[in-house]
Amino acid sequence: MAKLKNVFFCTECGYESSKWMGQCPACKTWDTFAEEPPLKKGEKSRSTGILPEPQLLSAVSATESNRVTTGLQEMDRVLGGGIVVGSLVLVGGDPGIGKSTLLLQICKELTDKQHRVLYISGEESLHQIKMRADRLGIFKGDLLLLSETNLDNIEVIINKNKPEIVIIDSIQTMYKEEIGAAPGSVSQVRETTSVLMHMAKGLNISIFIVGHVTKEGVVAGPRVLEHMVDTVLYFEGENKASYRILRGVKNRFGSTNEIGVFEMMDQGLREVTNPSEYMLQGKPEDEPGSVVAASMEGTRPILVEVQALVCQTNFNMPRRTAAGTDYNRVNLLMAVLEKRIGLQMASMDAYVNVAGGMRINEPALDLGIVLAILSSYRNLALDSRTICFGEIGLTGEVRGVSMADQRVAEAEKMGFKVCILPKTNADTIKKTGMKLIGVKNIRELNRLFSQGSSL
Ligand code: TYD
Ligand code: MG
Repeated sequence: MAKLKNVFFCTECGYESSKWMGQCPACKTWDTFAEEPPLKKGEKSRSTGILPEPQLLSAVSATESNRVTTGLQEMDRVLGGGIVVGSLVLVGGDPGIGKSTLLLQICKELTDKQHRVLYISGEESLHQIKMRADRLGIFKGDLLLLSETNLDNIEVIINKNKPEIVIIDSIQTMYKEEIGAAPGSVSQVRETTSVLMHMAKGLNISIFIVGHVTKEGVVAGPRVLEHMVDTVLYFEGENKASYRILRGVKNRFGSTNEIGVFEMMDQGLREVTNPSEYMLQGKPEDEPGSVVAASMEGTRPILVEVQALVCQTNFNMPRRTAAGTDYNRVNLLMAVLEKRIGLQMASMDAYVNVAGGMRINEPALDLGIVLAILSSYRNLALDSRTICFGEIGLTGEVRGVSMADQRVAEAEKMGFKVCILPKTNADTIKKTGMKLIGVKNIRELNRLFSQGSSL
């Protein structure tokens, strides 16, 4: 029999090709193709010989109560109200961001509540896991630990021990012997995930899979398996900031808009239940160029500080940077300012920064950016108890945004007194203790601001 030829997979998205390519035609990343033995044919059909009967939709029962709460509120919120029994959840993130810590902490909460949990690590020895567990505090319940990478063994062990929840840390270390490729390759990662999927559905256990986001193209990244799992969560954070954000990217059992905020401490992750307070820590008072804007992350309002520094340029081309928000959006807003109110931006360097390390791409931040730029340009500070939100269009109009009530309520809760917002939003908000200043366009905003008094 002729030897089967190797194939090439994109380690970013899993695209398959018979030859090596520099750029993946599917996801457009460069230099991500890796050579692997082809999948063995003929093993794919797992037919049992029994024909299933179609069921009437009305006859299928759906009990929403089949959820296990983790005890970590931030985690439960992102999952849509707890772990759905029999679901497969992928937790992706850069190496060292805290995925293992987060999951071990969930294990602690669950075992404290007498759930049967099995933690399988392919990366660390039992001794290392024990050391990490000791940092997290005292485990009141019993957690089952296993250091193993062979999925066939894992299958037997899960069948024998019948846990309710299983953690696989990480999918890139797991392998099935009959696949010729190395652990972490696209075919291994796909096949092991599909086996885990069958296990989760068949045995009705919830499985968490850890997936490292990889920079170099040898190990398959978590995106390869996003479409196979029920829920995809990414754990992210800035290098230097200690807070971490857990973001839902896909969720078959809830909304994907939610985020969970954590802070990495000496004793593991601490939940940040009031992110606004956290983001506004250390905000300067009465400094030009610093503005507080109300943004939404899912259904949650978060107040952030937007900073701008505008100064005379020494070059032919003015320098512009944007940290924590979209660079092109900032450039567009400066062009609107230049055209609509005649701000001389062409001779100015401008640096815009969302303080606290958070990344916000919501259009409602526009007004905050514009006000910060104006404030720095005119060297006039806003009152430190003023917040703003609103989208800005190309003609300089200030457009209404969604969930204005929640934004205003959050600002009031945090002790702010004045809110600058789109006129259309100001007209609909009924009960609030804040002073609302509705603006129609940036000319109006500029006029108000030049008078300075009320802001
Ligand atoms: P880890 O969970 O091992 O990351 P991942 O599994 O995503 O690769 O977390 C690693 C980092 O977290 C490591 O740099 C040490 C830090 N850390 C703390 O700061 N405090 C703690 O209590 C723990 C357990 C870890
Ligand atoms: Mg880890």
